[in-house]
Amino acid sequence: METEGKENVVHIVRTTTELRRARETLVGRVGFVPTMGALHRGHRRLIEESAKATDATIVSIFVNPRQFGPHEDFEKYPRTEEEDLALCEAAGAAVVFLPSVPVMYPEEPLVKVMVDARLSGVLCGAHRPGHFDGVAQVVVILFNLVQPTHAFFGEKDYQQLLIIKRLVADLAFPIEIVPVRTVREPDGLALSSRNRYLSPEERAKAPAIYRVMCQCRERAEQVRFDRIALPVEKLEEEGRAILLKEIPDAEIDYFEIRHADTLERTTFVMNRSRLFVAVRLAGTRLIDNLPLFGE
Ligand code: PAJ
Repeated sequence: METEGKENVVHIVRTTTELRRARETLVGRVGFVPTMGALHRGHRRLIEESAKATDATIVSIFVNPRQFGPHEDFEKYPRTEEEDLALCEAAGAAVVFLPSVPVMYPEEPLVKVMVDARLSGVLCGAHRPGHFDGVAQVVVILFNLVQPTHAFFGEKDYQQLLIIKRLVADLAFPIEIVPVRTVREPDGLALSSRNRYLSPEERAKAPAIYRVMCQCRERAEQVRFDRIALPVEKLEEEGRAILLKEIPDAEIDYFEIRHADTLERTTFVMNRSRLFVAVRLAGTRLIDNLPLFGE
C-alpha cells in the first residue's frame, strides 16, 4: 500500500498568522489538544485519541504565566521542546502551535474570563487563587485561534475539565469537549509533568496516594454492598489517616469526596461521588481523582 511507512510530518507554527494559515488548509473535524509541554504518555494518549476521532489534530505547547501563582513553579516548569515535538509527531499531530508569551498576550488583557466560585473556589481553586481564571483566559484565546471542532482534556485535571465543559456551554463555543481517562505508571501514580521534580525517595512514596484512593473506593463499594449509608466525612477521615500513615511527611492539601458533576459536597456517599486528592511531597504538588463507583 502506498500509505504504508509514510511518516507523519508535523507542521510547526509559532505566530497567530502562521497558525491561521495552517488551520485554513484543514478540512473536516479538527481536534485540539492544549498542553504546557514536558509531554508524557498522558498527553500522548490525548493526541492519539484526537488523531483517531478527527481528521487533523492541532497541539499547542504554551506554559501559561497567567495560571501560575506568584510563588509557584512558572520559572522552573520543565521546557523540553525538541522531545515534545517528536512525541507530537509520533502520536499523529498535524500541527503544533508553540507561541511565545507576547504572541498569546500582546497586551495586558483588559477583558478577562472569570470562573464562578462554585467551580473555582473549591479543591485546587481554593489552594491556587486565580488559577482557573488564568486557565479559562488562555483556553478561550486558544479556542478562538485554533477553531477546533473537538478539544481533548484529561480527567487527571478533573476540575479543569468540568470548568472547560461549562466554559464552552456558557460562552457558546461550538466545540465538543472530549474527556480522556487518566494515564498512570504501572505502580498507579498518575503521569504528570511535575513528577520529574520528585527525588527517587519521593517517587518511591508517591504511589501510596493512588493505593489509598483505591482502598477508599473499595471501602465505599463494600459499604454500599452492605446497604449502609456512609457519611462522606467519615470516609475522608479514614482515607486521610491511612495516607498519613503511609507517607508521614505528606502535606495533604485536600482529600475530599464531591459530586462529580457539580463539585458540591454531599452528606452521604452516592452514585456520582468522586474522590479528589492533592498532596505535597517536599514541595511537589501531586493531584489525582477517582470515581467511587463504576469504571
Ligand atoms: P498540562 O498540565 O500540560 O495538561 C495538558 C492536558 O493533558 C490536560 O488536559 C491534562 O488533563 C492532560 N493530562 C495530563 N496528565 C495526564 C494523565 N496522566 N492522563 C491523562 N491526561 C493527562 O492542563 C494544562 O496543561 C493547562 O492547564 C492547559 C489546559 C494547557 C491550559 O494552559
